[in-house]
Amino acid sequence: HHPGQIFRGLAGVVVDTTTISMVNQETNSLTYRGYPVQELCESCSFEEVAWLLWHGELPTANQLAEFKLVERNRRTLGRNVTSALSRLPEDCHPMDVLRTAISYLGADDPTEGLDDRDHNLAKSIDMFAKLPTIVAFEQRRRRGLEPILPDANLGYAENFLQMCFGEIPPAEQVRAFEVSMILYAEHSFNASTFTARVVTSTLSDIYSAVTAAIGALKGPLHGGANEAVMHLLAEIGDVANVEPWLKQAFVDKRKIMGFGHRVYKNGDSRVPTMTAELRKLTSDGKSADLLATYDALAAAMLRVKDIHPNLDYPTGPVYHLMGFDIPIFTPLFVMSRITGWTAHIMEQLESNSLIRPLSSYVGVEQRKVPTLAG
Ligand code: CMC
Repeated sequence: HHPGQIFRGLAGVVVDTTTISMVNQETNSLTYRGYPVQELCESCSFEEVAWLLWHGELPTANQLAEFKLVERNRRTLGRNVTSALSRLPEDCHPMDVLRTAISYLGADDPTEGLDDRDHNLAKSIDMFAKLPTIVAFEQRRRRGLEPILPDANLGYAENFLQMCFGEIPPAEQVRAFEVSMILYAEHSFNASTFTARVVTSTLSDIYSAVTAAIGALKGPLHGGANEAVMHLLAEIGDVANVEPWLKQAFVDKRKIMGFGHRVYKNGDSRVPTMTAELRKLTSDGKSADLLATYDALAAAMLRVKDIHPNLDYPTGPVYHLMGFDIPIFTPLFVMSRITGWTAHIMEQLESNSLIRPLSSYVGVEQRKVPTLAG
């Protein structure tokens, strides 16, 4: 490093310390609070992982029971929120609905202005509990269906899926969904989390930080990639088209969505776990074509470009097979990443320093303002 050296895209720059998660490029591993994410997927519910990210430890049985009770009691949306969301254009992107919803919750919060850790944790749990209701509301609104109210007798995943589809899907789908929530929950200083930390660093409020993070996640280079993956698998259509399609895509200099990563250059550690769930969902053979196209594209990308898939590659088809509309995929990512974002917002506030980098000016040299003729 020398003073004034530019790191475009902040690539390779270490901005701050964190105790929340570690992405290890060398060993291709991801840990949340020291626990390998694969082990968390095997042994924990998403509620336990949310608690872990916020508190640094897994909950005891009592803490978990208490948290579940609070979460179940916070799921219902106020009438003013639903009526505001109902007035948004039906064909707008669901991420716009989420961005508006969180902004509305902030404006509607009677504890606005109270930003100590206890209040911010309560606000985080509130958003965690209400986001599934918002996403399910939007999934049904897009289909012209009435919303289904949350059921306080059901866990996070079952309740959400019932609110979307009117019934609890088969166990392997609930499981695949829960695994996706755990894998999406946290990933260090990714673009949306960093956005949330930048907003927080000005001592703005948690809803403003989350609203901004939703905006960052929407883009196809970040969370929007899971939707883009499904569009491109549909565009390819058939496994026989993979090779010619890819050849043309390279001629057109297209980025292949769901591939590549800023940090992992030898493969995303979350992909094998999620792909295993995709294989289970397709084991009845009904979606053999989709799986064959999925495998063939991954193999071709590796062979031709040496580029591995990222987590958005398997989640796209998993969410499609579960019956979600494609534009709902990135909102599902929000439901999960709300845990990581809010953990980072609270961590930023613990030892805050305004995030304000420098730029190197390369525009025209200083000059005099001319006197206007006439
Ligand atoms: N398709 C085709 N070429 C690619 C891709 C891709 N998906 N990803 C990287 N490359 C090439 C890139 O063109 C470049 O080639 P060259 O050196 O010849 O110019 C080289 O690999 C290095 O790529 P880069 O764009 O400089 O790498 P980056 O670290 O800036 O970009 C990325 C990372 C994720 C933005 C990029 O890989 C990408 O655009 N991928 C597609 C979008 C995507 O799947 N995003 C999800 C990211 S992970 C999960 C999440 O956040 O949701």
